[in-house]
Amino acid sequence: MANVISRAVAGATDWFNARTPGLMPAYRKHMSEYYAPKNFNVWYYFGSLAILVLVNQIVTGIWLTMFYKPSAAEAFASVEYIMRDVEWGWLIRYMHSTGASAFFIVVFLHMFRALIYGSYQKPRELVWILGMLILLTLMAEAFLGYVLPWGQMSYHGAQVIVNLFGTVPFIGQELVEFIRGDYLISDATLNRFFALHVIALPLVLLLLVVLHLGALHEVGSNNPEGIDIKKVKDENGKPKDGIPFHPYYTVKDLFGAGFFLTIMAFILFFEPTFGHMFLEYDNFNEANPQVTPPTIVPVWYFTPFYAMLRAIPDAFLGFLVMGGAIIILFFLPWLDKSPVRSIRYRGPLTKVLMAIFVVSFVWLGWLGMQSGSALQTILARVFTMYYFAFFALMPFWTRLDSYKPVPERIPEHD
Ligand code: HEM
Repeated sequence: MANVISRAVAGATDWFNARTPGLMPAYRKHMSEYYAPKNFNVWYYFGSLAILVLVNQIVTGIWLTMFYKPSAAEAFASVEYIMRDVEWGWLIRYMHSTGASAFFIVVFLHMFRALIYGSYQKPRELVWILGMLILLTLMAEAFLGYVLPWGQMSYHGAQVIVNLFGTVPFIGQELVEFIRGDYLISDATLNRFFALHVIALPLVLLLLVVLHLGALHEVGSNNPEGIDIKKVKDENGKPKDGIPFHPYYTVKDLFGAGFFLTIMAFILFFEPTFGHMFLEYDNFNEANPQVTPPTIVPVWYFTPFYAMLRAIPDAFLGFLVMGGAIIILFFLPWLDKSPVRSIRYRGPLTKVLMAIFVVSFVWLGWLGMQSGSALQTILARVFTMYYFAFFALMPFWTRLDSYKPVPERIPEHD
């Protein structure tokens, strides 16, 4: 019996391969013969986890779209209907809203990994740039999605963000009307945000992820040592410090996915709004243009940048600073002049400056959630200056630091 089945499978595989010439070579290139460094650690889970969360967002998003009504008159009620009447609707909705926060947690950690191991350095500049484009798209996607439930924070948050474009000299007002499609945030705005959120940006995101992985597999993965494994190859031309991605890392990533899904399940079942950090309290009230919530703050993943915006008294300048905080990251591969990639071979200066960077970024995130007292504003200014100084002065301090020699091969760990 087993023999018959295996022959049938082999036959079907041959039939497919003869008709889809690209399939097997692609499988080999990206899976069974993609040689990844043998020393990946926990930081290397977040790439595959980002794919997992992306799939979760798309699948739960499709289900939500079956019941959601993109109109100002019906949107809020349709989300309540999903939460109360649609079978398992509450779970699908929370998987999507908690999934959005999970996406940013995973992506921020994924980026932090690149920062500590210098993964953006030559030859992976394009991998990084495509990653940054993913981040920008993801931010736009999350912002648009937050408007759809048409709660108080959806409405007034959209009001604040869209109005930022009004600070652009000369064309500001026209720009804002163009984005809104109306003289105020309205049904027309909700309709276009829906179209962008469910079709346009997910397509862009998927395309960018494919390009991101394609670019990575062209040059090969970095690793916690920052050593180039392609330098030392065996007689068959395979890197001596590499192992085939499949089955070794597919199995490792499955373990990571299981761990991640367990934590996700705990949050989903016991604290889906995460103390109203993932879904703000005010968003459980329907949008009312006449009643502005006492404090309008975005969801946590935007708050570091929001704190920068609020720290600057001039609205247009604040808008530029907020945008600049993202744009400057695009240049990271050219700002870092360090001769080594990984933090393991960098000196104390890099370690101290990076530690301060992490503290100040997290602190900015906290400040962005507060009401913005005088002291908080001063702190936000100090941290904003540090953020920009960290990157703008990187060409200098990376040259100043001391470095340890990087070995040829990945060291064996007992
Ligand atoms: C939807 C979001 C994203 C997905 C699905 C994704 C997926 C992946 C995957 C599967 C890998 C290979 C495995 C790994 O190294 O962990 C990877 C590597 C990488 N990603 Fe992403 N990524 C995303 C966003 C980003 C962002 C926002 C950045 C930075 C701006 C970024 C920068 C990088 C870099 C530099 C590498 C190479 C890392 C190395 O070889 O050490 N990615 N990505």
